[in-house]
Amino acid sequence: MIVKSMIDLIGNTPLIELKIKNCKWKVYLKLEKFNPGQSMKDRMALNMIRQAEKKGVLIPGGTIIESSSGNTATGLALISAIKGYHFIAVVDHHASIDKIKIIKAYGGEIITVGNNKRPDEVAVVERENIALELSKKIPNSFVPRQHENLDNRGAYIDTLAKELVDELGEIDELYGAIGTGGSICGTALGLKKYGIKTKINAIEPDGSIIFGGKGGPYYQSGTGNPPDADIPSIIDYNLIDKNFYATDKEAFNTCRFLAKSLGILIGGSAGGVIFKALEDIIKKKGKGIAVILTCDGGEKYLDKIFDDDWMSANNLIDTSIEKNLTKWLEV
Ligand SMILES: Cc1ncc(COP(=O)(O)O)c(C=O)c1O
Repeated sequence: MIVKSMIDLIGNTPLIELKIKNCKWKVYLKLEKFNPGQSMKDRMALNMIRQAEKKGVLIPGGTIIESSSGNTATGLALISAIKGYHFIAVVDHHASIDKIKIIKAYGGEIITVGNNKRPDEVAVVERENIALELSKKIPNSFVPRQHENLDNRGAYIDTLAKELVDELGEIDELYGAIGTGGSICGTALGLKKYGIKTKINAIEPDGSIIFGGKGGPYYQSGTGNPPDADIPSIIDYNLIDKNFYATDKEAFNTCRFLAKSLGILIGGSAGGVIFKALEDIIKKKGKGIAVILTCDGGEKYLDKIFDDDWMSANNLIDTSIEKNLTKWLEV
């Protein structure tokens, strides 16, 4: 394949089948780490930039400023590098070091906030306020505001959803993480648009409050909504049929198991989605097709999820997860 720009490599990511023991369901993981910025967020970064250019709110040589834990910022940094924009990411104090290094490698500038927070708390509100304050001072700046920007959600309709429809034709159940809600709601809208009837399942970290609850801290990065942040306005609850909460233990021990047993190295939110999806699918009778969206790759979390000392120090090792996965999966 010959392409003119890295932008042409965004989308068309592969599906890999997960084989479940004694189960007639076909289960596929959509591996979004194969986007050039190594996450599905490249899709929405591209759409938010393209639509802002069309609306004239982003002009040549302008500055893009966004509050992001890493993946959205990586996508924005990569596309800014190609299109000649200056990019500033406002990130949490405990954002993955590898994610920050990638943003810097693409020429992005980093502003870190939330030093007063615990390592398992996120500083979403401070991050967003700082991004908006900066944009008032910097001429020709644009803040995409992924939590409120319908071009985030819109990014998935004719890309990710269309790819699934073209590849599979029918999908009975879709499982995905929910943070801004862009990917799960956008894919749901796309499946509807292309005439596919699918049950939509959203998974958030235990401690996130998108589907209610008191909330609390969690280590899963990029996904969910912490108790002190407003619920993203682009989440359309009518599009979601069922919700689940994944604990950090479920999420991270699933990631570690899949890497060691199948060579599938995925990020923490994906681990949680896979565990909750499998727990749900193994109870199903008859046959069907399920797709599990995996947001990013494990390469971005080597110093945490895949670091034995970090996992033990934070009391996150739980061998019962691996036992369940061994019982459920053909490996
Ligand atoms: C690792 C990870 N998982 C899940 C999500 C949630 O995706 P969405 O914002 O589309 O709901 C994100 C969003 O940034 C993320 O970075």
